Amino acid sequence: MSNLEAQDPEVHELIKLETQRQQTKLSMIPSENFFSKAVREATGSVLSHKYAEGNIGRRYYEGNKFIDKIEKLTIERAKQAFNLPPNWSANVQTLSGSTANLSVYLALLNIGDYIMGLYLPDGGHLSHGWSYTPKVPADPNKTVYYGGKQKVNISSKIFNTISYKTDPKTQLLDYDEIERIALLQKPKLIITGGTAYPREIDYQRMKQIADKVGAFYLADIAHEAGLIAAGAMNSPVGIADVVTMTTHKTLRSGRGAIILAHEDTIKKINKAVLPGLLGGPFNHSIAGICVGLKETQTDKFKEYAFQTVKNAKHLAEELAKFDFKIISKGTDKHLILIDLTNKPLLGKKFARALDHAGIVANYNTIPQETKSPLNPSGLRLGTPWITGRGMKEAEISKIALLINQVMKITEQYKDLKFKDFKEAVSADIEIQKIANEVKVMCEQFPLDM
Ligand SMILES: Cc1ncc(COP(=O)(O)O)c(C=O)c1O
Repeated sequence: MSNLEAQDPEVHELIKLETQRQQTKLSMIPSENFFSKAVREATGSVLSHKYAEGNIGRRYYEGNKFIDKIEKLTIERAKQAFNLPPNWSANVQTLSGSTANLSVYLALLNIGDYIMGLYLPDGGHLSHGWSYTPKVPADPNKTVYYGGKQKVNISSKIFNTISYKTDPKTQLLDYDEIERIALLQKPKLIITGGTAYPREIDYQRMKQIADKVGAFYLADIAHEAGLIAAGAMNSPVGIADVVTMTTHKTLRSGRGAIILAHEDTIKKINKAVLPGLLGGPFNHSIAGICVGLKETQTDKFKEYAFQTVKNAKHLAEELAKFDFKIISKGTDKHLILIDLTNKPLLGKKFARALDHAGIVANYNTIPQETKSPLNPSGLRLGTPWITGRGMKEAEISKIALLINQVMKITEQYKDLKFKDFKEAVSADIEIQKIANEVKVMCEQFPLDM
């Protein structure tokens, strides 16, 4: 019996149930991944007992000899993993992608400056300046968005914001249009990256635009970090002024974030982190990141990253055969976004139906979205987790088939209220059969838990 089981059976039981859920379902939320036992051991270690406010060799607390060594090694490994230019360095202390971005803003901007990022419904991120006005329908034909009254993220509360959109015809970034908008507003910071843009970004072109308007350029690679480290996608390192990332998505290195930039900029960012935003860093998370960054430099990880992209491309192709409309007609990375407007169910109901069938996805807005983010037109699917289980194209074809079957089975419930829909789907025998098929598939590709 473990210590936890003996001391706190309630929490132990809940963790056991969550472990079973992860083991028996196909996790296809693109921002999620599972980590090696070694990463989890480091993350669950005694390092979380220690306070280490400050930076390596300059802490406000005694007793940080080993913490310093761990943080130094993590920075060294980040330099190697992302092939940093000699005068670049890293901050590995921010706790998450959102605080990493906030630290950059605090380091480089003044309150009230303009920041410009990708429009959230087109795949941007909340922390890139999101605000909106409730019940005012978005104009799908406008290429620029000036935000709304509800400043829901701190980035829109303290900065002025402007968002660029994707091209309505191609659903791709339109760099000429981004340049036009940037020239109009002259933001102090231009941001790329997001949660649902499925394509490569032309980092050189974005840097040219930023230079032309005198802006800093931040490339947020939260989603793609692991694919970039492995060489499966292009890297903004050495091009953008700052690169931020989360460590828990495709990088598979435990929860946290990394910021990369020229060492002079990193000095400013270190100050923004402490005393600006944080107290003590999460030493245990930093150690997890350290272990993960060693893994990312293995051939095994490179193979994993390339296969993740292959799987996502294959998923897009297979679903297109069932007349699922894939945003931008495909993907260059680990995720696909599906426009469900030609199907009986939209994102919210479809995601719930899939969950009952053992396929965990998330509903999502799509470019030119006309519906609320609470009941949007799209579904987002990703391959990082299932690829880590060892699944390849054959399994992806099977999953696409199952996804299509779920849509067909649940069409009969499409007009029900969500509450009744949930009940109908959870009681549906055909859906339960698919959940069993998924379970069998998962048993063939067990997670090392
Ligand atoms: C592009 C991007 N930036 C930032 C974040 C925020 O990361 P976190 O959830 O760790 O705060 C995310 C999370 O999904 C993201 O996708």
